[in-house]
Amino acid sequence: LKMFWVFFSCIDVSVSQSGILFSRVFKTYSLMHTNQTVEFVKRKYSEWTQFNHTQMGMMDAIMSLDQLVDESDPDVDFPNSFHAFQTAEGIRQEHPDKDWFQLVGLIHDVGKILALWDEPQWAVVGDTFPVGCRFQDSIVFRNNTFMENPDEKDQTYNSETGMYKLNCGLDNVLMSWGHDEYLYRVLKFNSCSIPEEGLYMIRFHSFYPWHSNGDYMHLCNDKDKQMLPWVKEFNKFDLYTKTSTLPDVDELKPYYQSLIDKYCPGILKW
Ligand SMILES: *[C@@H]1O[C@H](CO)[C@@H](O)[C@H](O)[C@H]1NC(C)=O
Ligand SMILES: *[C@@H]1O[C@H](CO)[C@@H](O)[C@H](O)[C@H]1NC(C)=O
Ligand SMILES: *[C@@H]1O[C@H](CO)[C@@H](O)[C@H](O)[C@H]1NC(C)=O
Ligand SMILES: [Fe+2]
Ligand SMILES: [Fe+2]
Repeated sequence: LKMFWVFFSCIDVSVSQSGILFSRVFKTYSLMHTNQTVEFVKRKYSEWTQFNHTQMGMMDAIMSLDQLVDESDPDVDFPNSFHAFQTAEGIRQEHPDKDWFQLVGLIHDVGKILALWDEPQWAVVGDTFPVGCRFQDSIVFRNNTFMENPDEKDQTYNSETGMYKLNCGLDNVLMSWGHDEYLYRVLKFNSCSIPEEGLYMIRFHSFYPWHSNGDYMHLCNDKDKQMLPWVKEFNKFDLYTKTSTLPDVDELKPYYQSLIDKYCPGILKW
């Protein structure tokens, strides 16, 4: 979860407005932490990896996110496509030579399209965490949202490694179901040519307990550890480019369409 909570008390909004935001965010995480179980995640994986839901180009998918307000995110009260272009432009300024990185900035949240297809927000947005092993303390609201999660009391799942082997690699770990994993799967299925670093950024950008708190290292293999700095680098732009000056989307579109044409062209299966 983003900086909002850290600076909750000094943020420049009225107390009551903060209160409303807080309860919306808390409610989303309560439902998420109650319902995201091994069984639930497996079911979602198999439902959404049929890729028979619809066919759509990447730019249309990005623009469709304008209909969405992310209930887990206290920072964003403007259309999601602005966040996409702002993140991409932030990356473009610091990494002008890495067009694939800029594209990752543009598309990283596109998996939120699930919420427009009737998935509840608690199965789409927000921070992610592994299921199938003990929920670690750095998960947001760890102490007061997991009480009703059946996996919390399951002997197979509530030890440090749970159903996994030490250093098994994140690729072998079931993450709570949400927009990160979904977009990763879509890109793989459609044979998009974004480099491995970029795919990691997309797949784990909401895994704050890992990339920001350093937890879950016992599940990581060497490759995960090599990729971690890239995920952290991405996170800078995801967090700090949410400004209120809105990007001129029409002006930027042709450039980003050319990146889409290069790395994930045409009509994709979702
Ligand atoms: C999610 O959790 C809520 C609250 O416990 C429950 O009412 C609801 O049925 C759960 N949904 C699913 C899909 O498990
Ligand atoms: C996708 O395929 C699955 C399994 O074959 C099926 O149950 C589901 O209804 C299909 N969905 C759509 C939208 O066609
Ligand atoms: C959560 O519970 C643990 C163990 O009881 C405690 O050590 C920790 O301080 C609690 N964290 C918060 C944020 O309340
Ligand atoms: Fe995201
Ligand atoms: Fe984002």
